Amino acid sequence: TRPLAVGLAGLGTVGAGTLELLRKNAELIAARAGRAVTVTAVAARDRTRDRGLSIEGLRWYDDATALANDPAVDVVVEAIGGSEGTARATVEAALAAGKPVVTANKALLAVHGAALARTAEAKRVPLAFEAAVAGGIPVIKALREGLAANRFTQVTGILNGTCNYILSTMRDRGREFTEALGEAQKLGYAEADPSFDVDGIDAAHKLAILAALAFGRPVDFSAVHVEGIRNVSALDIKLAEDLGYRIKLLGMARWTEAGIETRVHPCMVPADYPLARVDGVFNAVVAEGDFVGRVVLEGRGAGAGPTASAVVADLIDIARERHTPVWGAGLADLSPVPSIPMENR
Ligand code: NDP
Ligand code: HSE
Repeated sequence: TRPLAVGLAGLGTVGAGTLELLRKNAELIAARAGRAVTVTAVAARDRTRDRGLSIEGLRWYDDATALANDPAVDVVVEAIGGSEGTARATVEAALAAGKPVVTANKALLAVHGAALARTAEAKRVPLAFEAAVAGGIPVIKALREGLAANRFTQVTGILNGTCNYILSTMRDRGREFTEALGEAQKLGYAEADPSFDVDGIDAAHKLAILAALAFGRPVDFSAVHVEGIRNVSALDIKLAEDLGYRIKLLGMARWTEAGIETRVHPCMVPADYPLARVDGVFNAVVAEGDFVGRVVLEGRGAGAGPTASAVVADLIDIARERHTPVWGAGLADLSPVPSIPMENR
């Protein structure tokens, strides 16, 4: 069978990590995908930037939408970022051309997911996004496939690796907030604009995606209550610890008769609760299903390796032509469920 030709739009932490993984595990991936999965074209801004790996022999594009329209590209991986601009235009161009898309971009999905899903479903092409939530944890597959028989009552999680890294290193290594954030940035965990991490917006993007999947309805992102970790001090962390708690930034989505309650904010988590022991760049998701009960998933939530692992899992599905509708059949056409205002919770 012909190799699946991948166009990589974005060659930063996620894009370069994906290229490296596809090269290092090429044989194993070909065996599992039923054919070779090969990057043939890449797009980024700066052609001269040292990315720690060779891009010789790959077609280079300054314009990622042109990469999406390259007839020799079968599938587009969008790893640029941002809910608007080039990332959005690239995904739209690829879907309009009838090409499958894999994206790690939770901002784009949280804001424009329903519209993109409509286009993908109309064109009957996959729009896959395992990497967009909780990095290397296969939470999208878990909710959509392994737990598909359940009615979910709530989904809670540590959904931002940067914040969890900052809170953990402030506690364990006595780091200052800005120093810990600088480390997370160096490690490739943070967003291009790290205020998306520390102000809770990134976790809210992920929560909106999880809630849509869990509850089977689009979620109005602007109705998510969002509060970040900027105001959490070393003293807060210490006092919480003395009382037997850990401070964690949690995303929580709850289904009620009156609507969906979605919120992101720092929480005091009892030290013996499973989420309290999830430290560093690790994320965790706790889902409550009516028949399965509580399921806890944990793993690295950010960084090149874990995120590439999720991107390539989607590419393998596409190579095998295993296609799950974006949110669940017909979901993109439903109207959002009402969100409960914070003051009524
Ligand atoms: P980076 O900033 O490391 O990489 C972004 C890449 O996009 C760079 O290669 C950059 O080019 C390229 N780029 C930016 N603007 C344009 C443009 N206008 N045209 C073409 N290329 C462009 O980001 P990450 O890899 O960290 O993140 C990418 C996406 O993945 C984001 O949506 C992020 O939220 C998501 N994500 C990130 C994770 C992580 O751990 N970092 C984990 C999960 C998801 P150049 O290199 O030339 O500057
Ligand atoms: N900036 C994000 C985080 C990347 O720290 O969790 C993974 O989505």
